[in-house]
Amino acid sequence: MKIVVLGASGHGQVVADVIFQMWTRGREMELVGYLDDNKALTGTRLLGLPVLGTLADLPSTPHDCVILGIGDNADRARLYAELTAARKRFVTAIHPTAVLAPDVVVGAGSVLCAGTVVNPGAHIGENAILNTCASIDHHCEMGAHSHVAPGVHLAGRVCVGEGAFVGIGACAVPGVTIGAWSTVGAGAAVTQDVPERVTVAGVPARPLG
Ligand SMILES: CC(C)(COP(=O)(O)OP(=O)(O)OC[C@H]1O[C@@H](n2cnc3c(N)ncnc32)[C@H](O)[C@@H]1OP(=O)(O)O)[C@@H](O)C(=O)NCCC(=O)NCCS
Repeated sequence: MKIVVLGASGHGQVVADVIFQMWTRGREMELVGYLDDNKALTGTRLLGLPVLGTLADLPSTPHDCVILGIGDNADRARLYAELTAARKRFVTAIHPTAVLAPDVVVGAGSVLCAGTVVNPGAHIGENAILNTCASIDHHCEMGAHSHVAPGVHLAGRVCVGEGAFVGIGACAVPGVTIGAWSTVGAGAAVTQDVPERVTVAGVPARPLG
């Protein structure tokens, strides 16, 4: 299966590495290279893989599947919608060191980085990111296009809304909901529900500004 990584930034390279590590464990995944709209990257090599051009070059780039290497949730969601409408297939990238309970559901195009843990009954929507060493406890729900940053810990039955972002090292107590497209600041402790489209930070987490 030939895979193109869309986005060659730091996160794009992390995604490429996850797929490379899957390949080393026997998965039939061939990384073709990256496409990135930063034209200065075209022709360079990152992590040994070529940057083949911009996203407009996708039709002429041989591939079976794509994956998004873009950290920003709104940008990733927009591209996911465009590519889904164009009938592109998304691969799901799960690092070999990730630990998932057998009933965990992971949506298309999602990325589970090294050291992540997902406990029973959890559901991860499409095009989401579970970043390095984050843990998602039992019966959590991660919405489509959401992103849980490195070292985040969510207790049981936490709901992370569509497009929500949880910053590095934050945590959430059991059962709280983080509203769609909201941001939780680095190191925050979410102790009560967060509305949609707000930024909260601190211990306990409170709206910023
Ligand atoms: C919460 C966050 C989104 C706010 O960013 P911002 O809107 O640009 O806010 P600013 O940096 O202008 O800071 C505004 C105020 O909030 C405070 N603040 C910012 N982030 C904070 C945090 N994580 N915890 C507590 N206070 C924070 C600032 O000290 C500042 O306070 P002041 O007005 O008293 O000086 C950002 O600081 C953050 O935590 N991002 C997480 C990034 C991350 O985890 N990336 C991982 C990528 S994988």
